[in-house]
Amino acid sequence: MEIELSLIGMEKGRQYETIVTTNNYENIKNAAPIGVIYAGEDKILNRIFKGSHTLENIISQGEFVVNITHNPELFTLSTIGNLPQDYFNEDNSLKGVEAYFKCEVISLKEAVTQSDPIRNSSAAMVIKSKVTELIIKKPTKTMNRAFSYVIESLANLSRFDIVEKDKKEEYLKRFKEANRVVAKVGRREDIKAMGEIKKELIKKGYEP
Ligand SMILES: Cc1cc2nc3c(=O)[nH]c(=O)nc-3n(C[C@H](O)[C@H](O)[C@H](O)COP(=O)(O)O)c2cc1C
Repeated sequence: MEIELSLIGMEKGRQYETIVTTNNYENIKNAAPIGVIYAGEDKILNRIFKGSHTLENIISQGEFVVNITHNPELFTLSTIGNLPQDYFNEDNSLKGVEAYFKCEVISLKEAVTQSDPIRNSSAAMVIKSKVTELIIKKPTKTMNRAFSYVIESLANLSRFDIVEKDKKEEYLKRFKEANRVVAKVGRREDIKAMGEIKKELIKKGYEP
């Protein structure tokens, strides 16, 4: 069966925010937000830090589920603590998500490069996997952080001339971080929009 990740808005080479669910050898289920890069056809990549339950379970079980949702509660609970077991379906997917896909690990490698501000790049692994099944419950697009950053940067730009110096400096810092993330995970149009915002800041005499 051919897997069509484009049906949930995924484009080759782009990174999306998902919730990865796994199982350990005692059948205890675990959920954590994890970025997924669509590598084309039925392949995806993850970079997962050592020490997480997710990486441990993926290494021991060789499989995992990628949940597609826009539910802030699921992202928050699974970041801050352990999601209760009754949030999971029998097949390890999360109840109420818009879509999910099942993955089997093809390869695991030490991570060598990175563009985020994590101190020790060797403390992560890059996992390449094959998607074996896609289940769509409701039409959805997989979460991507770039557009929110564009909107946030525009909102700050629109207030730039009416705030105090300290706030301007804070906005500039926030713009730099937003620009870094958009350059990494954004579509061409998100990156272009950030370029336009940058030009406006330069016109105002700043070096974003
Ligand atoms: C939106 C979002 C994306 C994340 N992406 C990743 C990722 O790609 N790789 C990773 O190792 N951690 C990522 N994290 C951090 C993990 O979710 C976090 O460390 C989590 O507590 C790990 O839980 P676990 O020990 O249950 O696996 C992300 C967190 C958030 C909120």
